[in-house]
Amino acid sequence: MAAGDWSRHDYPALTARTRITNVTYPVTTGDFSAASGADPLYERSAVIDLDAIRHNVRRLADAASPAKVMAVVKADAYGHGAVPVARAALEAGASWLGVAHISEALALRTAGIDAPLLAWLHTTESNFGAAVAAGVDIGCSGWELDRIVAAAREQERPARIHLKVDTGLGRNGATIESWDQLVGEAMEYQDQGILRVVGIFSHLSVADEPQRPETDQQLAAFREVLAVAEDAGVDPEVRHLANTPATLSRPDTHFDLVRVGLGIYGLSPFEGQTSAELGLRPAMTLRTLVSQCKDVPAGQGVSYGLRYHTRGPSTLALIPMGYADGVPRVATGGPVRVAGKTYPIVGRIAMDQMVVDLGNIGPAAAGLLGAEAELFGSGSDGGPTADDWARAAGTNNYEIVTRISPRVPRRFINEPFVNKSPVKKPTVNKRATP
Ligand SMILES: Cc1ncc(COP(=O)(O)O)c(C=O)c1O
Repeated sequence: MAAGDWSRHDYPALTARTRITNVTYPVTTGDFSAASGADPLYERSAVIDLDAIRHNVRRLADAASPAKVMAVVKADAYGHGAVPVARAALEAGASWLGVAHISEALALRTAGIDAPLLAWLHTTESNFGAAVAAGVDIGCSGWELDRIVAAAREQERPARIHLKVDTGLGRNGATIESWDQLVGEAMEYQDQGILRVVGIFSHLSVADEPQRPETDQQLAAFREVLAVAEDAGVDPEVRHLANTPATLSRPDTHFDLVRVGLGIYGLSPFEGQTSAELGLRPAMTLRTLVSQCKDVPAGQGVSYGLRYHTRGPSTLALIPMGYADGVPRVATGGPVRVAGKTYPIVGRIAMDQMVVDLGNIGPAAAGLLGAEAELFGSGSDGGPTADDWARAAGTNNYEIVTRISPRVPRRFINEPFVNKSPVKKPTVNKRATP
């Protein structure tokens, strides 16, 4: 293999571009109800606004400039749908994509996405050969180096690697102590034309808490390892350290490239600062339809364990989503907006369903069967947000969106390239108010 042949674009096309439609997008959607003839998109869906994704990428690119943007689309784009999000992010100016697993990277290549693409979390079973063949950049913390070299030899093609250093997070990445040796070995292989050190990177641990001192310490350590690498002759295309919170709050961490995940989904990484305050737009709306509405007397117990009893005559609305859909079981009290008004979930959240107590609303209850029920959305109109659910579950907004399960079909809106055939409208009276 010739030294210096680093092109990332000359790998064989893996398959034809995946056709994307609202309903059957394969990586994202577990479309269990299609066979029943029901419209899965109206029964329940996570609606993904790709305009919001594009807006957020532009906002982060502005903050990062002149550094470039890597859109982090691991974990099916934090539950939003990796391929449509990746395409929207690239349209809006991201120049790199990042994922954890090589298999995630290969799925993007299979969908026809040929942008620079980094995968950074491997096991001894990871398919480095497929990564090399598909022009996927490989994060290397140390132990992977020999396997990457073997894969490059087998593929007769140089591997593209980003050396990862642990500057304080204590997860993957080479230790500072082993950095010298790793850089030395990588450069020997580079000199032989077996690989190219394209990047050097590390990951921050507390950038979402800007007052903490550890970010400064990590930044200082990163600068030191860059100097060591430079002394050893490494001339990386990209040095990268910043995640979303650092991109928004620490320009001194930007280097050549920022790796942004949460922000492109429109969510705030900072406790006490909303998406809107950061100029971001949440891209996912999780919604369904009220599936039963019934009047009950005072003292009616609700859901497993009977942890909640109605205080007076009430209408209970059944919300047909539960922990199998990714709603945390512990999140009793989480908000659901029904016909324009927001109520807390009462009683336990079950596998498929949960309940809101609409109070004593009398005849208005009759119009609510089939009414829109929104768990979270953009928040721009005062509606519930993923942040509200994070508080109810004692977790963060990352987990709330990422855990929405494949049983919930994703519906992509504002996407130029999807099948835009009209979708059946629900026949219920959505305007009914209690
Ligand atoms: C290595 C790495 N870089 C960047 C990110 C993106 O972080 P954020 O979602 O906070 O922007 C992640 C996400 O966990 C990550 O693991």
